[in-house]
Amino acid sequence: MASPTGLRTHLAERLRTWRDAGLGRSTVDLASGQHPVVNISGDRRLLFSSSNYLGLSHHPAVVAAAVEATRTFGTGAGGSRLTTGSTTLHRQLEEELADWLGYPDCVLFPTGYAANLSALNVLADDTVTVFSDERNHASIIDGCRSAKSTGAEVRVYPHRDMPALRRLLDARSTPHGLVVTDGVFSMDGTVAPVGDLVPLAREHGCMVLVDDAHGIGTLADGRGSAAPHSPAPDVLVGTLSKALAAEGGFICADTVTCELLRNRARPFIYSTASPAPTVAAALAAVQLVRSDPGHVRRLQDNVRRLRRGLGVPAGAPIIPVPVGDERAAMALADDLRRQGFHIPAIRYPTVPRGQAILRVTVMATHTDAQIDALLNVLTAHRRRSHGDGRAVG
Ligand SMILES: Cc1ncc(COP(=O)(O)O)c(C=O)c1O
Repeated sequence: MASPTGLRTHLAERLRTWRDAGLGRSTVDLASGQHPVVNISGDRRLLFSSSNYLGLSHHPAVVAAAVEATRTFGTGAGGSRLTTGSTTLHRQLEEELADWLGYPDCVLFPTGYAANLSALNVLADDTVTVFSDERNHASIIDGCRSAKSTGAEVRVYPHRDMPALRRLLDARSTPHGLVVTDGVFSMDGTVAPVGDLVPLAREHGCMVLVDDAHGIGTLADGRGSAAPHSPAPDVLVGTLSKALAAEGGFICADTVTCELLRNRARPFIYSTASPAPTVAAALAAVQLVRSDPGHVRRLQDNVRRLRRGLGVPAGAPIIPVPVGDERAAMALADDLRRQGFHIPAIRYPTVPRGQAILRVTVMATHTDAQIDALLNVLTAHRRRSHGDGRAVG
């Protein structure tokens, strides 16, 4: 009989192979919050990789709301939403999000990851084909795997390719269809063509789910990639962990879909609810974004400055610096670290093999001087690697 030691040796071999391919990962432990300047192992570095886009994680109103909720409700939630973990704050946040984003109802989840997993598992069954953009976030990919386990078919279409999606929709053989896309694609910062995609899906009698984890709080008036378009997506997934400065996910939809999720979504039923202080922080952040357009405007000014400096078109606060080889991406991240920046390399399996990037993000709290400092080092890198002044993103 094989011994547990045999499995341990096998695991060590797998880890070695992984690291030898330049794919090793480890945490970087910050000794400060998500400010433009952070403390890492005693070094002061400019942070250009956080999703605290609006800089609200230290806003006095957000911090005060979390402290107040801690005093009232304590720290842990103590149960799932359906047992003892739900508070009036959870429901208030669901109502606030639904009202802000223009949906009849909303359901909170412990994370955005759990929200996508839940949505795809619950909305799919053997009568449904799911159509998914090839660059969708890992949580959607895992959601599609879960949808397959319910008997659903899954078709992947090329990135933002509406003619290709139309061909797949035309060929659908199941009674129902669900088109799923990131609103802002998390690694390359591209924005889904929501204005074309929703009418196309409607024409084919399909529902649309947009995961706007990186669009909510950053695009349009803060309501994200779908806000300028009508009709709206049927289902809007979001996270509280990025621009909304907290932790947790949510799904906005019609009341029937939300009720089905409350009844059938396993991460909702079997995971402990988000703690009240976290919910209170997110609620305060949403209220700030709604009441003061200055937060989103400051972020968008900074995004414009960085994108213009890099010669890339206007867009989301995520800007990829393509590198390719995994080890070269690690070397560039290391070089930037020595120059005082914290911008980790993103490698397989987050992006395809041989397509490693540095993923730059900008926050509302960066100063012009900090953005210009980043522009200087990225422009120097571009000169070294191309010598032709080509755009970075
Ligand atoms: C596009 C997208 N969807 C979903 C998620 C998951 O959100 P959360 O971090 O709240 O689990 C992320 C986060 O990294 C994301 O980038």
